[in-house]
Amino acid sequence: MREGQATAIQRLDYTAPAFWIDTVDLTFDLDPAKTRVLSKMRIRRNMDVPAQPLRLDGEELNLARVMVNGGGTSFKMEGSQLVLENLPEGDAPIDLEIFTTCAPIKNTQLSGLYVSNDTFFTQCEAEGFRRITYFLDRPDVMAMYTVTLRANKAQYPVLLSNGNLVDSGELEDGRHFAKWVDPHKKPSYLFALVAGKLVAREQQIRSRAGNNHLLQVFVRPGDLEKTEHAMNSLMASIAWDEARFGLSLDLDRFMIVATSDFNMGAMENKGLNIFNTKYVLASQSTATDVDFANIESVVGHEYFHNWTGDRVTCRDWFQLSLKEGLTVFRDQEFSMDMAGSTSARAVKRIEDVRVLRTVQFPEDAGPMAHPVRPDSYVEINNFYTVTIYEKGAEVVRMQHNLVGREGFAKGMKLYFERHDGQAVTCDDFVQAMADANPESPLAQNLEQFKRWYSQAGTPRVAAQGRYDADARTYTLALSQSCPATPGQGDKQPFVIPVTLGLLGADGSALPLQQQGDAHAGGTERTIVLTEPRMEITFVNVDSAPVPSLLRGFSAPVVLECEFSDADLLNLLAHDGDPFNRWEAGQRLGLRIALGAIANPGVTANAQGDVEQSVLPASFVQAMRDVLRNPSLDAAFKELVLTLPSEGYIAEQMDEVDPQRIHTVREAMRAELAASLHEDWIQAFEDNQTPGAYSPDATSAGRRALAGHALNMLCLAARRSGDTLWPGKTYQRFKDAGNMTDRFSALAALVNSGHELARPALERFHALFKDEDLVVDKWFALQAGTSDRNGNILPAVRELMKHPDFQLKNPNRARSVIFSYCNANPGAFHRADGAGYAYWADRVLELDGFNPQVASRLARAMDRWRKLAEPYRALARAAIERVAAKPDLSNDVREVVTRALAD
Ligand code: TRP
Ligand code: ZN
Repeated sequence: MREGQATAIQRLDYTAPAFWIDTVDLTFDLDPAKTRVLSKMRIRRNMDVPAQPLRLDGEELNLARVMVNGGGTSFKMEGSQLVLENLPEGDAPIDLEIFTTCAPIKNTQLSGLYVSNDTFFTQCEAEGFRRITYFLDRPDVMAMYTVTLRANKAQYPVLLSNGNLVDSGELEDGRHFAKWVDPHKKPSYLFALVAGKLVAREQQIRSRAGNNHLLQVFVRPGDLEKTEHAMNSLMASIAWDEARFGLSLDLDRFMIVATSDFNMGAMENKGLNIFNTKYVLASQSTATDVDFANIESVVGHEYFHNWTGDRVTCRDWFQLSLKEGLTVFRDQEFSMDMAGSTSARAVKRIEDVRVLRTVQFPEDAGPMAHPVRPDSYVEINNFYTVTIYEKGAEVVRMQHNLVGREGFAKGMKLYFERHDGQAVTCDDFVQAMADANPESPLAQNLEQFKRWYSQAGTPRVAAQGRYDADARTYTLALSQSCPATPGQGDKQPFVIPVTLGLLGADGSALPLQQQGDAHAGGTERTIVLTEPRMEITFVNVDSAPVPSLLRGFSAPVVLECEFSDADLLNLLAHDGDPFNRWEAGQRLGLRIALGAIANPGVTANAQGDVEQSVLPASFVQAMRDVLRNPSLDAAFKELVLTLPSEGYIAEQMDEVDPQRIHTVREAMRAELAASLHEDWIQAFEDNQTPGAYSPDATSAGRRALAGHALNMLCLAARRSGDTLWPGKTYQRFKDAGNMTDRFSALAALVNSGHELARPALERFHALFKDEDLVVDKWFALQAGTSDRNGNILPAVRELMKHPDFQLKNPNRARSVIFSYCNANPGAFHRADGAGYAYWADRVLELDGFNPQVASRLARAMDRWRKLAEPYRALARAAIERVAAKPDLSNDVREVVTRALAD
């Protein structure tokens, strides 16, 4: 299992493959202990490169036979590669036949062919196909696949692979077979098979293009009634891609299969998407509104890969963001279009930016920082990151903004005209976008724009405004810089689109007239910053305006601007851009938090509570105004009333004391809970959703705000001793007609540490003990809840002894371990270092059987260098203990090595 010496792979070392594989015919005799795989390939030398031996990748395979053109052949093993040196010369096709066996039941890594709940599944991205058979396991080798599956019929009645079912029937000894042909050529990472006892929800559709398609969602018997939302999401995705981009489904049959053992969210195998159950199964009684939204988004994401990823794929894994950044951009746009109203779109945008800033910005500032198109990697699985996905999507979004909506559609069209059926690079995508829009600022700054792909780190944009009352002008100076990242010192300037507007002192949107404009036009425009520094001057400005900069988060940068409190209150109350309106509130909250953290006068009592006031009256009043504002949507209010996270606050500091941050943020929450008590009651009562459950954005927003209000009411009760609201919360928990309301009530009791939490948790478990995804929530809530008296770590250890805890199941492992180590900083960063020791133990334990999951957990310590003592020294010791283990996987070794590097 261990690779021995891990070597870094360099992007610039890319060379075309020495051979092409045109067709592959696979026959599987499926058996959990010993599966036989016969692979018949037609291969051909790539005459464009010097003649070389054929080197096929393989991992944990037993090789039984190799034949060339029907006869025996010499071969050798080099490391894990099968090497054939004496293949016929010239460009004539060669028939290569390889017979291997593997043991799916022993496959605990969930990469390659594995068994989950007596069902066979595959996961081949990025390099899992080599664990099934010897192959040129790289994305630029694209072949036509024919697949025959043979298995016991009673145990494995359903046999699925990519493409169309062309034959099926009975075999001897109770076995049967199915033969599948994929009409599209594809790289090996898109291969899939599934075999087991499954049932399907089916739907026939006719596309805009006039073709009929069969859609199927396969799940375990008993889960069928939880597939309606996934099917609806799939139909909506198909319709959306046709309407927005003119991209139609190119298969007669499109299948989704759910498995409860999966390392990631889902996988876009051509025509046979495989999903984590978390992103398929939903009913109103088991799934929250957030689950419903995530299902829509992930179903969309995988479906959109059918074009952006499958029809046009990546030349090599350094180009991963070519498909992932673009497909995340597409799923974000899909969710926004589905949400409908301007306000609901803004809510989705704020949620996406929040993820970017709380997860990707720290990644970009830490030891694993890498460009959207990395230059090197040890283990590719470590590079399925928020930088590749979410920052990659922002880079596509900037292109969208620079060429406009129509221009972007033209660019996509040209991209497919040029590259359909090919394996290409990030450069190819931007080039198509620019060539389709030659007059755009993208085309005019193309080479410079590409630095977004090559330079890591989060750029900083500093803005400074200067009002000249005599000249009635307002001059804005914008400058940019970017901190160094590992392996990258000085950075060149980026192309940064800054969308902006100006507000008058009364909050009105001012008409914009730049120096040189004949007259004022519009209240918003996008300035493209290409130089290290530039100035723009607006004329005919009657009084000092408040700038609203980086509207809609028009570039993935940190904006530094010295707003006064009054400026921010003005923006929060009046900005026409909902993103910046929210952002103004976040800046105010952050400013207060940082001030209190630095103020030695702010201290906690023995219960960990701060007794004095930390919130200025103006802030409380502004929050009250938002809560009471009848023209704002509930979902938006909920976002404004949520303070910046502990992690986000930590990122703004040079030296981090996680306990101090936790104490101060909790004090701010407690004060908001108490000062706005009447408003929380009102918000709760005004945002009930009686009647039939619907997960639409408006209803979900109301439930989110009502749930938040309940949380605050229980929090206030903790200090006031009030029993009314905890009692009401328990009642709501018992009576709720949907999981969103039930779970938010449960969470309110648990998070406030109320004595009713215990009976509620017990009741919840009894009700849902047979629902794996709900049991995951039950674990996650307890491991992620606010720490009082250091009681969370012992509770986490107890949870791991619970009969329902299963370390080998990734969802369950994440629900306890990741919820504690990644999502609960106040409980994890203990002055005795016990949290870090627990982390190290779990990383080592997980690495013994699932390196991908172990490596994700290892990332929890990325930002250890920012920690204050004693945390820093304790963290280093824990990381060093992990690094000292001799037989670590490449996955974990790469992460801890980078964490410890100077
Ligand atoms: N390509 C998948 C997606 O983004 C990601 C994925 C699923 C994956 N399973 C994986 C990546 C396993 C690496 C390893 O949609
Ligand atoms: Zn993807």
